[in-house]
Amino acid sequence: MGKDPQLEETLSKVQKYLECFHLPLEKLQEISARLKKDFNRGLGKHTHHRAAVKMLPTFVTATPDGTEKGDFLALDLGGTNFRVLHIRVNEDEQRVMKSQNCAIPQEMMVGTGEQLFDHIAACLGEFVNSQDLKGQTLPLGFTFSFPCEQKEIDKSILIRWTKGFNCSGVEGEDVVKLLKEAIHRRGDYDIGSVAMVNDTVGTMMSCGYKDQSCEIGMIIGTGTNACYMEELKNVKRVEGMEVKEGENRRMCINTEWGGFGDDGALKDILTEYDEEVDRTSINPGIHTFEKMISGMYLGEIVRLVLVKLTQEKLLFNGETSKALLTPGTFETRFISEIEKEDKGVENTKKILADLGLTSNAVDLHIVRLICDTISSRSARLCAAALATIVNRIRVNRKLDHLKTTVGVDGAVYRKHPNFSEELQDMVRRLAPQCDINFIVSEDGSGKGAAMVTAVAQRTVCLCGTRY
Ligand code: BGC
Repeated sequence: MGKDPQLEETLSKVQKYLECFHLPLEKLQEISARLKKDFNRGLGKHTHHRAAVKMLPTFVTATPDGTEKGDFLALDLGGTNFRVLHIRVNEDEQRVMKSQNCAIPQEMMVGTGEQLFDHIAACLGEFVNSQDLKGQTLPLGFTFSFPCEQKEIDKSILIRWTKGFNCSGVEGEDVVKLLKEAIHRRGDYDIGSVAMVNDTVGTMMSCGYKDQSCEIGMIIGTGTNACYMEELKNVKRVEGMEVKEGENRRMCINTEWGGFGDDGALKDILTEYDEEVDRTSINPGIHTFEKMISGMYLGEIVRLVLVKLTQEKLLFNGETSKALLTPGTFETRFISEIEKEDKGVENTKKILADLGLTSNAVDLHIVRLICDTISSRSARLCAAALATIVNRIRVNRKLDHLKTTVGVDGAVYRKHPNFSEELQDMVRRLAPQCDINFIVSEDGSGKGAAMVTAVAQRTVCLCGTRY
């Protein structure tokens, strides 16, 4: 390809349309600098109420030291599936003894909170029964992957729903209380103490068992977010946790970086396609950064670009299809399939045919270019945000050089053929004084919830404080 002048012209026109997605290194540095300011605002005593990046305290003040043990139940709610797990933690492993997936029907994701929690309590009840755990009242780690203002480890107020959930009567309420009430309404089993965990925290904690320098957790899946260990003296928004001079206490902060840009801070890089995705979402104006990055939205951005270029007669001979014009039909997993090294072309043909589109070799090339542009922007934006965290940890600790580990999970990071590579390369360029190791977490949020509960119990045993 490339010698035919007409083809050259088409490709250069396509490139022009895609320019708005390109983020050079200097722009990423600028974005990272803006996020750095937002981190300070989110942590500040007088500024956090209005901050776009919430920097939520998690009350997790220690990472695993390898001595934790016991049996735990874990609940994992955050995507379209809900999981219940029985986890055994001992000296050398965290083992999933048994787990069960329960689907959350679409109507339930936007129904009442009571329905949702009754469903959760029913799935948990069924699991406890089938595993003969009824009489044991095991401690429970609840991974609830939405922004929550945590008051204590077992008191967590939902700030707002994200990722397609919108159940009534839950925002502003204590999620632990809603879960316990639903269990009591049934009255056929009970649970022990509860620890609330965001999935990023679960991921960090489950990796922290293997690698004790793991102090960052990152998710790039249906949604995106990260947490990290912050110096407690910088967490000004938590009252009553004064730190004495010279003390190095830390607390894990759930950044909720998905909200970056909700105050207009990313206006200069938003494209018309991002604006359309936001406008047609169930939560316009919320989680701007997440909508440029995560699996819930990437496919839809690609679809909108495909529609635009077809209307401009640069694709499919100018002919759209009913499927292509229907929101949500271009799934994010298609991007990974199209960008695969070996089977990419074959996959593209099939995906386009299934969408009722007739394509030639040039179309296949352009569709791949679009997918690559959108996934690459996502990886670069994540890199900028992660660089903000590692640079911050290095400065916090007054180090010339920081060696650290990030625990990662999420389908976009795991399944895309070169997302992780692009993210890692870029973060190294944006944080040259940091040496970062990435560990993909297996069953991270479930196991991590058990770990948080286990660490909380260990710290209770050691110092007698309530967690
Ligand atoms: C939520 C976060 C979560 C992330 C990844 C976001 O939509 O607000 O709490 O960690 O998705 O699941």
